[in-house]
Amino acid sequence: MADENPVGLSLEQGIAILTLQREKQLNALNRELLLSLSQHLETLAALPELRVVVLQGAGRAFAAGADIGQMQNLSAVEATAFAKLGQQVFRQLELLPQPTLALIQGYALGGGLELAMACDIRMAAEGTRFGQPEVSLGVIPGFGGTQRLPRLVGRGNALRWLLSGELLEAQQALAIGLVTDVVAPAELLDRGRALAEKLAQLAPQALASVKRAVDLGSGAPLEQGLNLEAALFGLCFATVDQQEGMTAFLAKRKPVFSGK
Ligand code: HXC
Repeated sequence: MADENPVGLSLEQGIAILTLQREKQLNALNRELLLSLSQHLETLAALPELRVVVLQGAGRAFAAGADIGQMQNLSAVEATAFAKLGQQVFRQLELLPQPTLALIQGYALGGGLELAMACDIRMAAEGTRFGQPEVSLGVIPGFGGTQRLPRLVGRGNALRWLLSGELLEAQQALAIGLVTDVVAPAELLDRGRALAEKLAQLAPQALASVKRAVDLGSGAPLEQGLNLEAALFGLCFATVDQQEGMTAFLAKRKPVFSGK
């Protein structure tokens, strides 16, 4: 049966919360969920007041992977198209100019971990289990795992977990830099909100430029990356928020950023 709203969206004070809500299937990512996520991202991209995007899973998982039932009988051509669909939607998420924060609890497996890796910041609840178990299903990650995992945690760590398909505990994920914060499960939402609220107070164009410099620079030779950084740094000086930030500092007051 089709889920009516596989992804929920709420927006309050510039903070959007996207919630995967195929709870009974541990938020397994099927085509409908990916399309729903994509539609929400399109809506969000058009909102001038948007400051931060939070992504979470309802129930007892962030997401337990791509939907195995939906994938089982795909042809090679259909499987490629499914991988490309997920990759496109995750890239759409990654390219949002606003910071994105994944709040991860329960399980982040396969496509679920790939989705979390397309976010800028990953905060996890103690007890969460992570992994790319695709090889145990006779396949490989298809939503970016073989590309983003080594970029995040280095080739050695990535191959350790990609090849074995074993699951990592939250503390292991923290140790290799797959997540940056591990908190008590009951605190995940509050801690996530607090960070989101902090990010929402910062200068949006500066945050967007940080993302752009990191995204475009990470695959580029150092010289190109440095040139890009200098150009983006210079562009900050065409914003009202640069004046506000520096004036406020010198006046020993808190800046109020307008996004201009
Ligand atoms: C479809 C899934 C699912 C998945 C869980 N479910 N994961 N359905 N696809 N990825 C369903 C179960 O079938 C079950 O449905 C319900 O959710 C609850 O799951 P249980 O297995 O009963 O729960 P539990 O015993 O607690 O085990 C939790 C779990 C296990 C360890 C997370 O569900 C699990 O191993 N899931 C699969 C993990 C995985 O291999 N992920 C990678 C998928 S491949 P019913 O109807 O029985 O209640 C992938 C490729 C990405 O992600 C790239 C694609 C291009």
